Amino acid sequence: MSTDLTLSGVTLRHGARTIIDDLHLIIPSGEILVVTGPSGCGKSTLLRAIAGLRPIDAGSIAADGDPVVGTSRDRAMVFQDDALHPWRTVRRNIDLALTLRGVARKDRRAEAHRWIAEIGLDGFADHLPRELSGGMRQRVQLARGLAGAPRAVLMDEPFGALDAQTRTSMQQLLIRTLDAHPATVVFVTHDIDEAVLLGDRVVVLGNAGEPARAIVPVPHPRTPAADNSAARGAVAAALTAPAGTHSKAIA
Ligand SMILES: Nc1ncnc2c1ncn2[C@@H]1O[C@H](COP(=O)(O)OP(=O)(O)O)[C@@H](O)[C@H]1O
Ligand SMILES: [Mg+2]
Repeated sequence: MSTDLTLSGVTLRHGARTIIDDLHLIIPSGEILVVTGPSGCGKSTLLRAIAGLRPIDAGSIAADGDPVVGTSRDRAMVFQDDALHPWRTVRRNIDLALTLRGVARKDRRAEAHRWIAEIGLDGFADHLPRELSGGMRQRVQLARGLAGAPRAVLMDEPFGALDAQTRTSMQQLLIRTLDAHPATVVFVTHDIDEAVLLGDRVVVLGNAGEPARAIVPVPHPRTPAADNSAARGAVAAALTAPAGTHSKAIA
């Protein structure tokens, strides 16, 4: 079961510097919302606030109407950097998420193996993260993020360090996995093609402290063969617009 997220007048500062200023956004249950924008504009800061990993300086964030005041198992974070436990095998990394979810010990092994099969890593259950490629470790991170049955998944450039081919296969894996395990997703990327492939909508943030520049709906999300060139063009235009530009849709 996925969650809806409501951001009302969210303002986030680092010290005296305002990074996100008065952002309003409703992310309906089950949506994949992509957040993009220039480097340093506050994408990671915003995601951390939604996760409950940092305080909100003004405004509020609610998940299904309940204010976000800290982290929750309902909201899983998936990072670009490999955040697996290096001394735990693939199976035991996934096992951790199952344990936190309260899956009984007797069921955990079978469920971990189902996840391992789902991410295409049969035969690697007893490998340590350092014995895997970057793409394989990212698969394990995805499984670990989703195995806890979160209602929202917050992904910070999760495929940013992967080569193009591995990235494409991870995008397809993510699409398949979310079909089987629905969740609301906030996905940060600075790759326009990835944004338009995955997102139901793409939010283009302005520079730090500036308003968001655009919210672009994608007509055929997650269908690689569809023509989403108009949405791609709108995202690209918002990204390259002069500083201070923001769309009427969200003005
Ligand atoms: N812990 C911090 N202390 C002070 N400033 C920070 C901190 N983290 C990030 N910033 C600043 O906040 C801005 C937004 O950072 P970040 O959210 O990481 O941007 P993005 O993910 O979009 O690249 C940047 O200008 C960065 O320098
Ligand atoms: Mg970032």
